[in-house]
Amino acid sequence: MHFLNDGEAVVMNKKKVALFDLKSEREKSLDIQTLDWKMEDAEKGGFPHFLLKEIVEQKNTLPKTGQINKQEFQKIAAKINEGCKIIMSACGTASYCTLAAKYFFSDLGIESEVYGAYEFLPFARFCNEKTVFIAVSQSGETADTLIAARAAKKQGAYIVAVVNARGSTLERMADCTLPVGAGPEIAVLSTKAFTAQTATLYLLAYYIKGVPEKAITKLDHLGKMLETWLTQNLLTRVRELAKSLMDHEDMYLIGKYLNYPGCLEFALKIKESSYIHSEGFASGELKHGVIALIQKGTPCFVLAMNDEVRNEVLSSAAELKARGGKIIGVAPFESHEFDIHVKTPDIGKLTFFPNVIVGQLLGYYLGIGRGTDPDKPRNLAKSVTVK
Ligand code: G6P
Repeated sequence: MHFLNDGEAVVMNKKKVALFDLKSEREKSLDIQTLDWKMEDAEKGGFPHFLLKEIVEQKNTLPKTGQINKQEFQKIAAKINEGCKIIMSACGTASYCTLAAKYFFSDLGIESEVYGAYEFLPFARFCNEKTVFIAVSQSGETADTLIAARAAKKQGAYIVAVVNARGSTLERMADCTLPVGAGPEIAVLSTKAFTAQTATLYLLAYYIKGVPEKAITKLDHLGKMLETWLTQNLLTRVRELAKSLMDHEDMYLIGKYLNYPGCLEFALKIKESSYIHSEGFASGELKHGVIALIQKGTPCFVLAMNDEVRNEVLSSAAELKARGGKIIGVAPFESHEFDIHVKTPDIGKLTFFPNVIVGQLLGYYLGIGRGTDPDKPRNLAKSVTVK
């Protein structure tokens, strides 16, 4: 692989690949790198769509994050432990990853700020040499994320790129890169890259605290739980659920703390893949407007886990149910508030991952049921390289 830089052009024929500098028109030598991606990673491998294949691959890609980037993690952790402030920024799915990371960081007593990259510029002035700016991007080519990272860099911030695709513009401008190693993500919807990016930031929190083994062990355990949970049984269960929901045009989701970004991502997968209007909310927001939208039979997803806010979320579920909402619980436990329950593994805060995976699968099956192409939804691009 040679990654083209600005101002370079290539002439290829059967015999030769020649690289040129556009200004001088002189031939240059190729800077060849070897990637550890395999050909079969970019093929469907027996799955009907890349999206489904990439969802199932998370059994392997998630625990893998604990095995890579050890030196880079340590380098970034050292920088942060020197007293640097953390700012994270991204677009789309990657921005929900930064929001989830904010909760993971806070759990360990680490402060961080999060901005949608398209809203970052008014705040770039607060970056300086004591800022670690973490830009998260599957492609490393999203225009708004690059603009935000450049603005932070100009202010003197140390730029960290959390990316999946290699050799991107973001990676090249970063001071340090954490490649998440999920392998090529072909479907427009981000699934395995999202979870690998989130796991990477989860690991970073533990590196900052000097106890990475704890996170690595938990991610290994997560991988094992996914092996037994993310099976044909689950796929069949979610496909049946999708069938029963297919004709609805609006769906709402609530969650609190980590399940809040979980809801946003879950809702985005449904929107992107099936074009059904779905919105995720913090359960605390329910009484401030959202509840007015609930009618008899409105599908309401409740994402929960065994955490400190489990009962609060269940009491919000009871309020939705009292307004006639059809409550679909996505949680490791049963509850009388749930009309339908999709059980997820009980793995503490890491239940975040299987809860989101249910949304990825549901988006996939809703899309199939409604006749969309789940790998290439209308109006969306894998990488938005314009402002
Ligand atoms: C587009 C894609 C999304 C993606 C977002 C950010 O909108 O359709 O799936 O989350 O860009 O992409 P990035 O490559 O920066 O993660």
